[in-house]
Amino acid sequence: MRQKNANFSKKEDKKLSDGKKTIVGVFDSGVGGLSVLGACVRLAPQFSYLYYGDNARAPYGSRPAGEIVCFVREALQLFRERGAAAAVLACNTATAVAVERMRREFPFPVLGVEPAVKQAAARYGSALVLCTPRTAESERLRRLIARFPACRFTVAPLEGLAAEIERSLCEGKEPDLGAHLPPDRSACVVLGCTHYALVSDKIAAFYGVPVFDGAAGTARRLLSVLGGFGEAEGSLGGYINKSSPSFLGESGGEQVFFLGESAPLNEKIYKQMFKK
Ligand code: DGL
Repeated sequence: MRQKNANFSKKEDKKLSDGKKTIVGVFDSGVGGLSVLGACVRLAPQFSYLYYGDNARAPYGSRPAGEIVCFVREALQLFRERGAAAAVLACNTATAVAVERMRREFPFPVLGVEPAVKQAAARYGSALVLCTPRTAESERLRRLIARFPACRFTVAPLEGLAAEIERSLCEGKEPDLGAHLPPDRSACVVLGCTHYALVSDKIAAFYGVPVFDGAAGTARRLLSVLGGFGEAEGSLGGYINKSSPSFLGESGGEQVFFLGESAPLNEKIYKQMFKK
């Protein structure tokens, strides 16, 4: 089923072919992936970015795996139609459930996000990993943690925190973190959900310990996968014109385009958090 949010006119599609920059599609269930987008734009402003948040169907964290795979596939089809050279699943849940499969199905590199378990283990003897239920039960996280036996990891599946952050940011309110964060005495916290990274300073204040998130690592991988080139033969760029509310602009040479019905919302939050 083609997603309602993802519809664009033929005219807009045509504009896509006018640009020259390498396009990177960044996807999340909602606003969480903006934390990854921010890191990617900071490190690699030479690329053109498409951001698609499936806000209407967020959160994904407790949905059945088969459903998440279908949603992720729809998003990547959208990026493919718009000439993406790579896609970033800026969602730990989508990565845990679907990244391997998407790599087999799509012709471009599909990057996932990974909780910064390695960085935490390199510095501390214990870490609390906060993530969604789907990520917590994933084989991918289990294997990742098993690589660092010297660190004691406590994995906390959080049923409602991503939804709380999604809702509060969209409504311009403070999230009630205390209602969701479990008590813990680990030496540090690892954020295993990109939504949590948007309030990492508040989570750090809540526990009073350092907090690790994987956004910068994802941005570095993107740059190495695409070879650091800003312009590629046959690559395509910007299709939403500058008067469109979904065009963020090119200040500092960057281009970020927001897709779907929630585009204005995601654009607003991105600007508030990353373009101060
Ligand atoms: N931001 C996502 C993640 O990193 C998804 C959260 C959700 O939709 O439940 O897991």
